[in-house]
Amino acid sequence: MSEDILGEWGTFVFLSEYPNMAPVSQDASTAVYQVEGFIERCGEPIVLAPPARWILRMESPNRAALEEATQTLVSQCGRPLIGVTQHLHYTTADQQAELLRVSAQPVDASGTGVAVLIPIAKSDAWWQLPHDERQRHFLQTERTEGHTAIGLRYADRIYRKLYHSRYIHPPQGFDFLTYFEFPEDLAEDFRALLSNLRDPELNPEWAFVKREIEIWLRKR
Ligand code: HEM
Repeated sequence: MSEDILGEWGTFVFLSEYPNMAPVSQDASTAVYQVEGFIERCGEPIVLAPPARWILRMESPNRAALEEATQTLVSQCGRPLIGVTQHLHYTTADQQAELLRVSAQPVDASGTGVAVLIPIAKSDAWWQLPHDERQRHFLQTERTEGHTAIGLRYADRIYRKLYHSRYIHPPQGFDFLTYFEFPEDLAEDFRALLSNLRDPELNPEWAFVKREIEIWLRKR
């Protein structure tokens, strides 16, 4: 694999206390097992120092290059999860301006950072809603804060990146790959963000999430 086909590389090690989400704990352990298997089968390219477990993040604006890299990975290591960044769907101009102004950058390579990957699938009921109803779930109302306003409270210290997987072929089993980075001492903040987002009283959108897997990693 030549280096110039990759937009970005990161190496991560699993945190020992990954995830503590009872409803999906079986899913989570399966996912971690799969990632471990995936990495172990890579053999040569990645040096494993047990008990460390590594995960790679690859990005490229060049689809052909990324597909070539993916083919190499698939042949050597098995199928990785794939997502693609997209235009915004539900963000208003004011929200976009505010998010651009405050949003955190990725954790500096010199610092100790935590990275969390959360693949998410939404229910058929969500995908059957018309666009205006889906968008309403991201907005603040008299009774609910909504996804974007909740997220805005954390955007200055939690780096985030959203990849869409719904229309990737072959099917990924997830609609989104959500990715976050933050300094280690903000882990409790991140957990509070998750708990707010998952509270349907605050954020009714989450009632449509049918599957999510939390994978906590340490960025090296
Ligand atoms: C760090 C603070 C966060 C902010 C500021 C934020 C903000 C946003 C915004 C503005 C959108 C709409 C994007 C669009 O217009 O298409 C969005 C989408 C999304 N966010 Fe967040 N978010 C945050 C945290 C999270 C977390 C922690 C998760 C997962 C646990 C998450 C999962 C998602 C997903 C899955 C979508 C796509 C939903 C869909 O298109 O149906 N977000 N987020």
